[in-house]
Amino acid sequence: MLKVNGLEITARSTKEQLVKGISFEVGKGESLGLIGESGSGKSLTSKAIMKLLNKRVFNMSGSIRWKEQEILGRNAKLPKGYRGRQIAMITQNPMTAFAPMIRLGRQIEMGFDVKEKKAKQEFYERLDIALKNVNLPDMKKITNSYPDELSGGMLQRVMIALTILQSPELIIADECTTAVDAASEYMILCELERLRKEGMSMIVVTHDFGVAARLCDKVAVMKSGSIIEQGKTLDVFKSPAQDYTKQLAQASLLFREGIC
Ligand SMILES: Nc1ncnc2c1ncn2[C@@H]1O[C@H](COP(=O)(O)OP(=O)(O)O)[C@@H](O)[C@H]1O
Ligand SMILES: [Mg+2]
Repeated sequence: MLKVNGLEITARSTKEQLVKGISFEVGKGESLGLIGESGSGKSLTSKAIMKLLNKRVFNMSGSIRWKEQEILGRNAKLPKGYRGRQIAMITQNPMTAFAPMIRLGRQIEMGFDVKEKKAKQEFYERLDIALKNVNLPDMKKITNSYPDELSGGMLQRVMIALTILQSPELIIADECTTAVDAASEYMILCELERLRKEGMSMIVVTHDFGVAARLCDKVAVMKSGSIIEQGKTLDVFKSPAQDYTKQLAQASLLFREGIC
């Protein structure tokens, strides 16, 4: 479904090459883990796929094809519903995803365009379940709140619930459990696992190999803007070819076993 080929991203101001010709694919129902330390280019890659990078700030080359259609070039047109219904991204900073002066319930209704009374009732029933699944049991409290009345972790979970409600064909989850507590992290991972079993395609961006091992068929390991290793998750995890990958794997194992 998604084919990234030789993607390069350069900052126009400094001419620094931030993503250095990376290639990977995500098939239908497949889940890819994009793993690497902070600053390795994972979020830039995700935003490039979503076409969210400002062309005046970044120069991009290479190819990003979605269902055989090129979306990167200067004249490329985005397919209808590309952002949202086809590909949805859960970002690292949930604060910027919502307007600060409008109660969440109203924002959500506007976003999903529910007007008719019966449709509204049905929608809220689905929203209630989606929120409960990410450890937010009190829908009324959420919908009556302004964004700054909730913690970053709670907003993150609202965003995840809304993304899941949209049921896109591909979800890009960019470090989506970084800002949340352990219980919520567990529930979010279970939700993503359920979606994966239902056949949703995914790119899971993480620095935690444990998360990738749980959610991904295959992984691509990023370091300083390059993919240094990719393959089936368990193969890479069990016998990493690169020292860097070994360190990532060990860090996560130690973490999982409660040693550090
Ligand atoms: N607007 C920008 N201008 C210049 N450099 C940037 C900009 N945004 C990100 N970078 C740099 O690009 C690199 C990759 O960033 P990012 O993709 O956010 O990393 P990751 O998500 O893997 O932590 C980092 O070194 C970061 O400093
Ligand atoms: Mg990032």
